[in-house]
Formats: sequence, C-alpha cells, structure tokens
Amino acid sequence: MASTTTTTTTAAGLIGVVLLARHGERTSYYQSPTTYSSTQAYISPLGEQQEFELGSFLRNTYLNPDSPTFIQNTSIDVVRVDELTVRADAGGGNVILNSAYALLQGLYPATNKSAITLGDGTVVLPPLGGYQYVPGKSSLEFWQAPSLTSWMDCEYFQDHLARIYASSAFINMSTTAAPFLTALEPYLGSVSNNFSNMWNIYDHVNFQYTYNKTYYETLPPTFLQQARYYSDWLQRNVFTDSKQDGVGQISIRTLLPEVFWALGNMTKTSNQVRMNIQEVDYKPFISLFNVTNATVTDPDITGTVNYASVVALELSQNSQGQHEVSMKFKNGTEDSQFRQLKMFGNTSITLDSFINQLSWTAINSTNEWCFSCNQTILRGCSVFNYSKDPFLHGYGTGYTG
Ligand SMILES: *[C@@H]1O[C@H](CO)[C@@H](O)[C@H](O)[C@H]1NC(C)=O
Ligand SMILES: *[C@@H]1O[C@H](CO)[C@@H](O)[C@H](O)[C@H]1NC(C)=O
Ligand SMILES: *[C@@H]1O[C@H](CO)[C@@H](O)[C@H](O)[C@H]1NC(C)=O
Ligand SMILES: *[C@@H]1O[C@H](CO)[C@@H](O)[C@H](O)[C@H]1NC(C)=O
Ligand SMILES: *[C@@H]1O[C@H](CO)[C@@H](O)[C@H](O)[C@H]1NC(C)=O
Ligand SMILES: *[C@@H]1O[C@H](CO)[C@@H](O)[C@H](O)[C@H]1NC(C)=O
Ligand SMILES: *[C@@H]1O[C@H](CO)[C@@H](O)[C@H](O)[C@H]1NC(C)=O
Ligand SMILES: *[C@@H]1O[C@H](CO)[C@@H](O)[C@H](O)[C@H]1NC(C)=O
Ligand SMILES: *[C@@H]1O[C@H](CO)[C@@H](O)[C@H](O)[C@H]1NC(C)=O
Ligand SMILES: *[C@@H]1O[C@H](CO)[C@@H](O)[C@H](O)[C@H]1NC(C)=O
Ligand SMILES: *[C@@H]1O[C@H](CO)[C@@H](O)[C@H](O)[C@H]1NC(C)=O
Ligand SMILES: *[C@@H]1O[C@H](CO)[C@@H](O)[C@H](O)[C@H]1NC(C)=O
Repeated sequence: MASTTTTTTTAAGLIGVVLLARHGERTSYYQSPTTYSSTQAYISPLGEQQEFELGSFLRNTYLNPDSPTFIQNTSIDVVRVDELTVRADAGGGNVILNSAYALLQGLYPATNKSAITLGDGTVVLPPLGGYQYVPGKSSLEFWQAPSLTSWMDCEYFQDHLARIYASSAFINMSTTAAPFLTALEPYLGSVSNNFSNMWNIYDHVNFQYTYNKTYYETLPPTFLQQARYYSDWLQRNVFTDSKQDGVGQISIRTLLPEVFWALGNMTKTSNQVRMNIQEVDYKPFISLFNVTNATVTDPDITGTVNYASVVALELSQNSQGQHEVSMKFKNGTEDSQFRQLKMFGNTSITLDSFINQLSWTAINSTNEWCFSCNQTILRGCSVFNYSKDPFLHGYGTGYTG
C-alpha cells in the first residue's frame, strides 16, 4: 500500500491523540453470518509481535521528543498511569485484551528507570527487568456494556444483515463469486461456501495458509486474494450504511462518544490524559472511513484493515488557537509509516466541526443502544422502562435504517 508521511503538525507538537487499534493475529474464529456474534479467539505469538511493533511505532511517533508529533509534556520512559486511558473489549475471546497488553509493552517497554527505593534504602526493580504494569482502565466484558461490540445482540443489525442478503447487489455479487467458491470448496474443510459466509471463508483460507505448510504449498495462486476481495466487499456492505446514522454503522456510532469526550477533555488545561487507546476489531475502521468521507478522497481504504492496524485522531492547536483534529492510518505491519487521510475533504478540521459532523449519529449510552437495536433484555437493557419507547415499535426515525 502506498503510504505518505505526515505533514500536519504545529511546531508545538500535539496535545493528545485518540487511537483505535486493531488486535493482532489470532487463532481461527467463527462469526455467524446471521448475527455476527463470534466465538472465542486467542492471540498468537505472531499477533503479539505485531502489537508490540505497533506499540514501538507509537512510542517513536508520540513519545520521542525528536518526533514532529511528540505529545507535549508526556512521560517518555516511565509510564504515568494518569496520562493513558486504555479500553479493550474483553468479550469474544482474549485476543483483544491481550493485544492491548502487547501494544502497551511496546509503548512503554520494561526499563530499570521504573525501580523504586524503599524506606530502608532497598532498590526494587519490577519483574522482567522493569516491566511496566499499565492498568487497562476498563476492560469491558461484552455483557457489561455494548459500546465495543455494539453489533452483537442488536436486532436491527440482524435485520440489516437480512436486507443485505436479499439485495440485488448481494445476489449479483454471489453469482459472480459462485465459480470461485466452487473451485475453492476442496480448500474449505467443513466451512460452508455460501456467499453470506464469505468472512468465515476468507478467515479459514487465511488461517490455513498462514499455519499449514501443505495448504500453503497447494492453495492455487490468487485464491487467497480472491477470497479477501469478496470478503472485503461483503464487510464493506455489512459495516456501512446508506446513512451516517444507519444501524450498519453501529460499530463506530457507539465508539464516537468516547472519542468526543476524550478529545474534549484533552482541550482542558486540567487534563492529564494524553493518549486514549481503544483496542478493537476490524469493524469500526470500515464504518469510520465511511462516515468521515475518508473513502471519497482515498478510495483504496474501503477494504478490511490488516491485523495491528491503527487510526490516530490527533489533536493540535492551529495558529488561531482553535483545536483541530487530523486522521492518520497505518494498515498493520505492512505500512512502516502513517498515511494522512482526509475527513470531509480536509487534512484537518476543527474539533467543533468534527463533533458537529458526527455527534448526531452517536449512541451515547446503553439506554440509547437498547433503543437503537430494539433490544429490551440482553446486554443490560432489561433495567430500562420501554413502556413509552417510540423506537421499540420501529416508528422512531433514524434508528432502523
Ligand atoms: C506536565 O504534566 C505534569 C504531570 O502530568 C503536570 O503536573 C504539569 O503541570 C504539566 N505541565 C504542563 C506545562 O502542562
Ligand atoms: C539500566 O540499564 C542500562 C541498559 O539498559 C544499563 O546501562 C544501566 O547500567 C542500568 N542501570 C541500573 C541502575 O541497573
Ligand atoms: C444485478 O445484475 C442485473 C443483471 O446483470 C442488473 O440488471 C442489475 O442492475 C444488477 N443490480 C445491481 C444492484 O448491481
Ligand atoms: C445461505 O445463507 C443464507 C443466510 O445465512 C441463507 O438464508 C441461505 O438459505 C443459505 N443458502 C444455502 C444454499 O444454504
Ligand atoms: C492442512 O491442509 C491440508 C490440505 O488442505 C489438509 O488436508 C489438512 O487437513 C490441513 N491440516 C490441518 C491441521 O488443518
Ligand atoms: C473526561 O473527563 C471526565 C472528568 O475528569 C472524566 O470523568 C471522564 O471519564 C473523561 N472521559 C474521557 C473519555 O476521557
Ligand atoms: C458509505 O457506505 C454506503 C453503503 O455501503 C455507500 O453507499 C456510500 O457510498 C459510502 N460512502 C462513502 C463516503 O464511502
Ligand atoms: C490493507 O492492506 C491489505 C493488503 O495487505 C489490503 O487488502 C486492504 O484493502 C488494506 N486495507 C485498507 C483499509 O487499506
Ligand atoms: C461526503 O461525501 C458525499 C458524497 O459521497 C457528499 O455528498 C457529502 O457532501 C460529503 N460530506 C461532506 C461533509 O463533505
Ligand atoms: C473543509 O475545509 C473547507 C475549506 O476550508 C471548509 O469550508 C469546510 O467547512 C471544511 N469542512 C469541515 C467538515 O470542516
Ligand atoms: C450524544 O452526545 C453528543 C455530544 O457528545 C451530543 O451532541 C448528541 O446530541 C448526543 N446524542 C443523543 C442522542 O443524546
Ligand atoms: C421490536 O421488538 C418487539 C419485541 O420486543 C417486536 O414486537 C417489534 O416488532 C420489534 N420492532 C421492529 C421494528 O422490529
């Protein structure tokens, strides 16, 4: 992927950054085509390495005083826990939570500067040569809060899936893909080659290709790329929508409040948090690039992001003193640098404009999520009173689309 290096920063460096990071490589896992609920997955040594490298990259970018994007007044070697907020989705397997740990190990590696001196003069170094234990401030179990896995148990999202499978675009694409899926059948084991299962098909092929020597040697050339092409097409349809506030965009709509609040907090003089890290899976990237119009100016980013990809929303102050946000992207370990993206056609936009463009689509609370999904029982929804809920019977606007 072509990548261009970054340009937008004021001489003063950055005020802070909100990062969305995709987890690292993992064991195979299955997502139901009718719900996108998934099974457990575990991070692999390859995935740990990818996340560690991502952490080191972020360290060089934001914690190095020589970097043009150094974040002002940030601790460089010994972590100050007040300067970081880390959220990771602990549902659907440990892969995302452990990815966050590996990233943090690269961001703030073990250092003997983290030693402390006790009252009696004894110097104590943390284990493993000064390992730094960064608290994951809220590793969310998925049943506690839907924010990081908002498509799961969301009835309107399931309706959206059913609409996609019935659409003429889907039927056309499945017809186009049919000869390939027939040819691929011997390489699918017990995985269904139904086109609606395209995500699992690609995941199976990619996983076997990565780990199975026989498979690697026998899979015909281009089959991996073709599987990815069709899977990307389907994911793009599943995790976007014709409207910015459609239910297909739900994976980013539940993350946006944290993004607004984190950036807003960073503008305050009392603020301590310089980095807000959200460890997530691939879905919010697709929705984010769509709702910010980034795909209009960079049409090649409509695919699925690689493992250990990252989006940075960098906060700086322009010469008029206004706070500005700029979006950058690194597509996993294949890219060595950030690539500058545009939001709504602009390299950077004011924080006010960013919020104005998107806040109306945000799902700010569990209560709003329950309404937006027509869910009254699961994920903490049973505590709310729905007797006067205009959305429950589908005549509230903007939520079913
Ligand atoms: C730098 O950070 C420290 C600790 O977070 C804080 O006490 C100090 O006021 C900050 N200084 C500036 C100039 O922001
Ligand atoms: C800390 O580690 C560095 C090398 O990483 C070494 O040069 C230095 O002597 C160590 N200091 C102490 C106090 O152990
Ligand atoms: C699907 O294919 C048919 C026949 O090729 C075409 O008429 C129709 O416009 C296509 N629909 C979409 C949504 O691509
Ligand atoms: C393919 O999957 C869809 C949705 O999961 C289902 O409705 C359809 O019946 C399946 N088709 C076949 C041939 O199994
Ligand atoms: C490895 O791939 C070969 C060829 O497709 C297959 O027969 C075999 O079952 C796979 N091994 C495992 C452990 O999945
Ligand atoms: C913003 O700051 C408030 C007040 O300190 C705090 O309660 C809240 O958790 C912060 N939110 C984010 C996303 O940083
Ligand atoms: C967003 O996704 C919708 C639905 O897939 C698509 O029609 C629209 O063109 C996309 N918008 C952008 C800016 O890519
Ligand atoms: C990331 O790179 C892969 C190739 O390694 C490509 O297939 C995919 O479309 C890229 N994703 C984005 C969002 O650019
Ligand atoms: C986003 O892109 C669409 C075209 O896909 C355009 O109609 C719309 O005006 C753009 N929005 C902004 C705020 O630039
Ligand atoms: C993008 O920049 C143009 C020109 O400066 C400005 O008119 C427009 O409001 C900006 N768009 C957003 C969403 O801030
Ligand atoms: C969600 O919060 C944003 C500000 O962060 C606000 O603009 C928006 O109106 C809120 N949405 C709802 C439905 O309350
Ligand atoms: C919402 O769920 C209720 C049952 O809880 C159901 O009766 C209603 O039809 C659903 N609304 C829509 C629009 O699917």
